[in-house]
Amino acid sequence: MRIDTFKIEEWMNLYCPSAKYDLTTTCIEPLSIRELMTISGIARPLEIFDTKLTYGDIHGSRRLKSAIKSLYRNLELENITVTHGAIGANQLVFESILDKGDEVIAVVPAYQQHYSIPKALGANAKLVFLREENNWQLNLNDIKNALTYKTKLICLNNPNNPTGAVIPDETLKRIVEIAKSHNIWILCDEAYRGLNLVGNPYSESIADLYERGVATGSMSKTYSLPGLRVGWIAGRIDLINEVNKHREYNTISVSIVDDYYASVALENKDKISQRNFAIMKNGLNILNDWLRGEVYVKANLPQGGTTALLRYKKDIPSRTLCRNLQQATGVALLPGETMEMEGTVRVGFCIDTTVLKTGLKEFSKFIRLI
Ligand SMILES: Cc1ncc(COP(=O)(O)O)c(C=O)c1O
Repeated sequence: MRIDTFKIEEWMNLYCPSAKYDLTTTCIEPLSIRELMTISGIARPLEIFDTKLTYGDIHGSRRLKSAIKSLYRNLELENITVTHGAIGANQLVFESILDKGDEVIAVVPAYQQHYSIPKALGANAKLVFLREENNWQLNLNDIKNALTYKTKLICLNNPNNPTGAVIPDETLKRIVEIAKSHNIWILCDEAYRGLNLVGNPYSESIADLYERGVATGSMSKTYSLPGLRVGWIAGRIDLINEVNKHREYNTISVSIVDDYYASVALENKDKISQRNFAIMKNGLNILNDWLRGEVYVKANLPQGGTTALLRYKKDIPSRTLCRNLQQATGVALLPGETMEMEGTVRVGFCIDTTVLKTGLKEFSKFIRLI
């Protein structure tokens, strides 16, 4: 199977390790195991010390699946399978649903998996762009216009990386109506679900709204534990059974150690949320203050998630801008071109305060001079 280069991952692997001020990250300051234990009130995690390192429960422990189930309104344990991050979850969903010749509508900008994996599987991926002039919201007519009798799947990301746009629940329901009338699946990548900065932190999950709705989620963003490599798929039972058929070939199980820490984290999710919202709000204020004083950059402020997409007012390709910026200042930003959004850069604002402030200040100084 041939596949396009994953542009974001390639860029980050190349540039992030040497960055002095890394503003590319999408994670909220990750927790250490000690911090997780402290937040969860566990003095000594004896349970895990005494755990034999078997494969564990193949599709995820009952404890973990119960904790994941609590994130949804209408699901049972059988509606869930545990995966290697949201990245593994998305891959399995595409493999399980798509056949050669199918069409997929991928709402972009988004994680490149959403269109490159369908393409690699022989499907035709049609890109539907979020509208910048519409505060990065979808125009539903764009989805309707992209539909054909071959459309099998609509792919959403809510909240959206990189724009920070949140799909209002009412709009989500209208997308469901469109999909329902054509028997189309919806995959909603909900890796950032629980991080809405406005209104209820948790948007409705597509898995609760629609029988052909499949949600993917993970510990990486909302729960600040990307090192656990735990994600999941939530959807109807026949789909989960099909996913598990594929999963047997590439996962066996997710580490029993990761399963334990993920269970503890989800059982203490409210405390982790409290910590994370403080970081997010602080970062958003810093970003907002900076934008008010910055002449060469504008942005729609994120309504959720951990990133914002900045449009710069200079005539320079985003890859060149980011490469030169990092060379001159040590500041790493992600070029919009890696997300099909030339003329923009992505900033992750849920990071260390000093790194964020210094990085943005250096970016301002640099962009004035080019
Ligand atoms: C939208 C989206 N989906 C999935 C992933 C993969 O996340 P995970 O670490 O859970 O595999 C990312 C990571 O950046 C992401 O931004």
